Amino acid sequence: MDIKTQLDVIREELEKELASLTDIRQLEEVRQKVLGKKGTLTALLRSMGSLSPEERPIAGQMINKGREEIGQMIDARMADLKAKEREEKLRKDTIDVTEPRELPRVGVPHPTSLALEEVLSALTGLGFDVVEGPEVELDHYNFELLNLPKDHPARDAQDTFYVDDNIVLRTHTSPVQARTMLSRKPPIRIACPGRVFRADEVDATHSPVFHQIEGLVIDKDVTMGDLKGTLDTLFKKLYGDDIETRFRPSFFPFTEPSAEVDLTCITCRGKGCRMCKGTGWIEVLGCGMVNPKVLEMCGIDSNEYRGFAFGIGLERITMLRYGIKDMRLLYEGDERFLRQFR
Ligand code: DAH
Repeated sequence: MDIKTQLDVIREELEKELASLTDIRQLEEVRQKVLGKKGTLTALLRSMGSLSPEERPIAGQMINKGREEIGQMIDARMADLKAKEREEKLRKDTIDVTEPRELPRVGVPHPTSLALEEVLSALTGLGFDVVEGPEVELDHYNFELLNLPKDHPARDAQDTFYVDDNIVLRTHTSPVQARTMLSRKPPIRIACPGRVFRADEVDATHSPVFHQIEGLVIDKDVTMGDLKGTLDTLFKKLYGDDIETRFRPSFFPFTEPSAEVDLTCITCRGKGCRMCKGTGWIEVLGCGMVNPKVLEMCGIDSNEYRGFAFGIGLERITMLRYGIKDMRLLYEGDERFLRQFR
């Protein structure tokens, strides 16, 4: 067979193989079979040695041209296969965005947070600023400045967690009052929500960690009537116009006079139920006119200014708001309970 015929045979053979092969690996094998060290074209090139010196250049030219063509055929097929492979991959990796799937689990706000949100938005609606203070507090702010000196018997009523002689876990949010009076000039109107701590036992109505919202108003002609009016408005706004407040005389070292405030039971609207032990009223806060001694200790002239303050127990309000009978449910983090407050 002459060189040209042999080249034609190789090319024809290659065409058939290229048409039938289906992947890149097979194509690489075919390339080796033709152009590799033991390939058919390589063999043809070697056979040139037996040709006469006159025939050689012509044969050489032919083979080189053939090799170029063969290379192009293989490259073209390679490009073709690669394109197909890419297309296949894209097809396989397609995401069906309409396919149903499991929904991500989204958290829900805690009922205490919901109740807090409600009270704070009512208070800010009445012109109160929200102010926060530290949970680990100096004895000085938690007690001293609130007219509870070291030997004061009322300190015992607050089962305090002491960090050391001068540092406590705050037993109420009232220290934020003192901090604010020292740092702002009157008029002052603030609401201070936060976590408080007492070495209490755990039962359906007690927890060593709970929450309060402190309110403080300082201005020139503030009276007990303003206090009563503010609380009345607040609770009517929160729970409805049929809700009333009732003041009972009480004692707190930081207020004079002091009162404890009952609210028409928001569960039974005053008829009497389990939540209010049949009385129709529930105790929700302590309050009073800021003791002039406290004003003075906190740098406010008690001849010029007066103030009132109150401290709301948040858990109490939350439980009433949602008819929760056991406070422990608020701390256990049981999902079956929490998911009901979506
Ligand atoms: N700090 C008091 C407590 O934890 C609650 C309280 C009573 C706060 C009277 C006040 C207040 O601001 O005027 O029991």
